Amino acid sequence: MCGIVGYIGKRDVAPLLLEGLQRLEYRGYDSAGVVITGKPAAGRPAALRAVKAKGRVRDLEARIPKRFAGTTGIAHTRWATHGSPSDENAHPHLDAEGRVAVVHNGIIDNAAELRVKLEADGVVFQSETDTEVLTHLVARSQAPTLEEKVRQALQLIEGTYGIAVLHADFPDRIVVARNGSPVVLGIGEKEMFVASDVAALVSHTRQVVTLDDGEMATLKADDFRTYTTEGSLTSATPTHVEWEAESYDMGGHDTYMHKEISEQAEAVDRVLRGRIDDRFSTVHLGGLNLDAREARGVRRIKILGCGTSYHAGMIGAQMIEEIARIPADAEPASEFRYRNPVVDPDTLYVAVSQSGETYDVLAAVQELKRKGARVLGVVNVVGSAIARETDGGVYVHAGPEVCVVSTKCFTNTVVAFALLALHLGRIRDLSVADGRRIIEGLRRLPGQIEEILAAEGDIEELASSYANAKSMMFIGRVRGYPVAREASLKLKEVSYIHAEAYPASELKHGPLALIEPAMPTVAIVPDDDLLEKNRAALEEIKARDGRILAVAHRDQPKADHTIVVPKNETELDPILLGIPLQLLAYHTALALGRDIDKPRNLAKSVTVE
Ligand code: F6R
Repeated sequence: MCGIVGYIGKRDVAPLLLEGLQRLEYRGYDSAGVVITGKPAAGRPAALRAVKAKGRVRDLEARIPKRFAGTTGIAHTRWATHGSPSDENAHPHLDAEGRVAVVHNGIIDNAAELRVKLEADGVVFQSETDTEVLTHLVARSQAPTLEEKVRQALQLIEGTYGIAVLHADFPDRIVVARNGSPVVLGIGEKEMFVASDVAALVSHTRQVVTLDDGEMATLKADDFRTYTTEGSLTSATPTHVEWEAESYDMGGHDTYMHKEISEQAEAVDRVLRGRIDDRFSTVHLGGLNLDAREARGVRRIKILGCGTSYHAGMIGAQMIEEIARIPADAEPASEFRYRNPVVDPDTLYVAVSQSGETYDVLAAVQELKRKGARVLGVVNVVGSAIARETDGGVYVHAGPEVCVVSTKCFTNTVVAFALLALHLGRIRDLSVADGRRIIEGLRRLPGQIEEILAAEGDIEELASSYANAKSMMFIGRVRGYPVAREASLKLKEVSYIHAEAYPASELKHGPLALIEPAMPTVAIVPDDDLLEKNRAALEEIKARDGRILAVAHRDQPKADHTIVVPKNETELDPILLGIPLQLLAYHTALALGRDIDKPRNLAKSVTVE
């Protein structure tokens, strides 16, 4: 969602902060702002200087005055939650004297109540945001140190936060704190960084410290220390970020979405690397923390995720049932956590998340852990909150995903589930021959992905012929259904064309009423035991003059167009069937002139409820 970046050191801070904001813009992007500790003039104390702008980081950049020198500052890119996008609501928020500045990710739940109290005390608010409350609380604290002022303010608030605070009376430091919203420190040579995401740091340092919930830190140019909100020191050993700065660049593509779709063969290669064991026709998943005896004791698997990760989990559940023969299902984490679910000791829970920071998933994990459940993670971002909260898991190794719309991480997550299913299957009753068959199928994936991507030109042409549709239907059965759901989500979020996804088997129970020439259908028609049933659905649509685009393993005569995808092992087919539809969504959005990497109203990691 929103992004935070901060720097303290010897370099000119404004360009560094703007570069950091550019890298974070994908997380949220309706306004941005920066505040620096200006150079103190002779005989006068340091003063804070802030610039804010509604719009993109480039709008902020255009407003930065020529002389804006300083070597300490914090900045923010916002995705509105409290208060509409505007200059006033953009962070940083300063107190009336301009001595304190706060940038904040998260939501302060009791902001309205605190605001009433502060206003009764004469505080005049400049914005509608919840964050400004925090600024005034810090400014009004009588505590002698900045750390203590921040701590006192945090004691009064309820909610989630990742914050960075500057105070003109303490120009040698930035104080930061975390509770539910990521905060990462970047450790440099006589300079320190802070950000909500390593993306903003990696071009300067790959030595990082990720704060835990309830932790704070003080950054000085040549030193940092971490401590709890109660004040006791914590130990923080920097870790090395595996992804290089270049992985965050566009690499010659016009959009991150295109880059990330195009990278899928190598990304899949990465999730497989070092994990296949040909001798025993299985895979090794080092971080699972589930021994063979425990794995045999699992009676059910429940997968939890949101959006695209939930769809990957739906496919994962089917793979686990088919390959490992363990009953499994997936549910949106956002629903699960609100229905007081029965937590069963024989059920293994799996939390799925690209960012590892999605609040609904994290909250579901925390609730499960509180009730004694065993929770694994299938996560992309190493060291993220969900990765750390879970008992073990499988890293997805998709590399950084910058486009708001998830593509390569979806594919890699589904492959990670295939690995988990194979691992569990071979511990239980999957035969050596079937294990080998699945492994061979997995090995074919990168080459088959290249084949699909090589047909991009044809998909681009198709996209231009469907781009004028007002609404589209996506259908699939069993393995094809989650693929249809994900493809429909992709199309609507990036092109803004309305799309519905249904199991093909449900068509005649209602949605068939929508079919007419102006409502094209995308049908997932794999060569599996349901082929004839799927073909019957195509007949029903054709009989209502519906236009059909099929994604299939061979040409479908009833369809107006077929995108032919290479066949793999039946259990693994869903991995490939969705990829051409990522390209379809991309080229449709391109034809409609959409802002592909930053679709309206959306943010990358949803770290609030
Ligand atoms: C859609 C998309 C979202 C995310 C969802 C969960 O393209 O990206 O639906 O999948 O917000 O995010 P993560 O996977 O980071 O938990």
